Amino acid sequence: MSRILSGVRPSGDLHIGNYLGALKQWVELQNSGEHETFFMLVDLHALDTIDDAETLRQKVREVAALYVGAGIDPAKSAIFAQSDVPAHTQLMWILSSRSKMGDLERMTQFKDKAAKGGAERVNLALFSYPILMAADILLYQANLVPVGDDQVQHLEFARDLAKKFNNTYNKELFTIPERFAGELGARVMSLSHPEQKMSKSDDDPKGTLPLLADDDTLRKNVMRAVTDSGEEVKGGENKPALNNLIELFAALEDTTTQAIEQRFEGKGYGDFKSALADAVVETIAPIRERAQALLADTDAIDALLAEGAMRANAVANQTLETVSKEVGLR
Ligand code: TYM
Repeated sequence: MSRILSGVRPSGDLHIGNYLGALKQWVELQNSGEHETFFMLVDLHALDTIDDAETLRQKVREVAALYVGAGIDPAKSAIFAQSDVPAHTQLMWILSSRSKMGDLERMTQFKDKAAKGGAERVNLALFSYPILMAADILLYQANLVPVGDDQVQHLEFARDLAKKFNNTYNKELFTIPERFAGELGARVMSLSHPEQKMSKSDDDPKGTLPLLADDDTLRKNVMRAVTDSGEEVKGGENKPALNNLIELFAALEDTTTQAIEQRFEGKGYGDFKSALADAVVETIAPIRERAQALLADTDAIDALLAEGAMRANAVANQTLETVSKEVGLR
């Protein structure tokens, strides 16, 4: 059985991009019955943006509820918080002994933040984030990591570290993880700024489709989405807004972009957007309703996280023990 590991940073509001790029793929992998699946709430990674204890704890529960709402079944998959598994930070230290500053400086996430506020103002946690993410993945000896396009660079860094350790110690200490992605939806763009990816930290609430938003907000945001000049529902070069909406529609309906374009041949943007709004609501409303029902029962969420942490610790501690021994630690 191959092993699957992925996670979400519990900061901001999860949106349709997180669902299509990650959660939807997780559910399919889980339900195939061919994999052992681990899905994490990466709260250590959120510490640099959330500085209120109760907010962070509540955010972890909210995202756990959304995992379940989206179809992650705690009986089949381990759902756990990163901070419940101390091995993550322990392995991170070991991995940092072979991580180069130069490689970390080339990470887009760091470069973007450094460009905005200056590198000296960036927290060390953000700079070393890819090392912790590598530990997240390598601890579970994950074969496949289902993530959206924006995480490919981080995954590549984890693969390189795994190879470096395997070479240095001349042993297969770590499985080399592969990326897993769906055909569409791995990079959903903002509805209001289609040249930027849809993001949890977007300042413009109109640009995103949050998984906990009500139907009215979702419909409004779709109807207000920017479009490109022209009248036809047809994507192409220099049509970033339409390409995004058509791809979003196709991903939601598990069809192709060509099929969507054919369906709206001879029709205008109004018809297209109102059908897209229906498809968005059809996908998000049941996720939101299941998540909200679970969120009302904090004890149930805490219990499923405790159970998930037990399963995660068992695997993670085994890897940490083997690696610690092989590198010469006591
Ligand atoms: P995060 O929390 O930013 O995003 C969670 C997942 O959603 C995907 N995603 C998107 N997919 C399509 N379109 C978008 N606009 C979009 N925005 C986000 C992300 O690619 C991701 O799969 N560093 C990670 C969390 C992490 C992790 C890990 C993931 C920490 N350790 C280990 C996998 C394995 C992050 O910040 O994702």
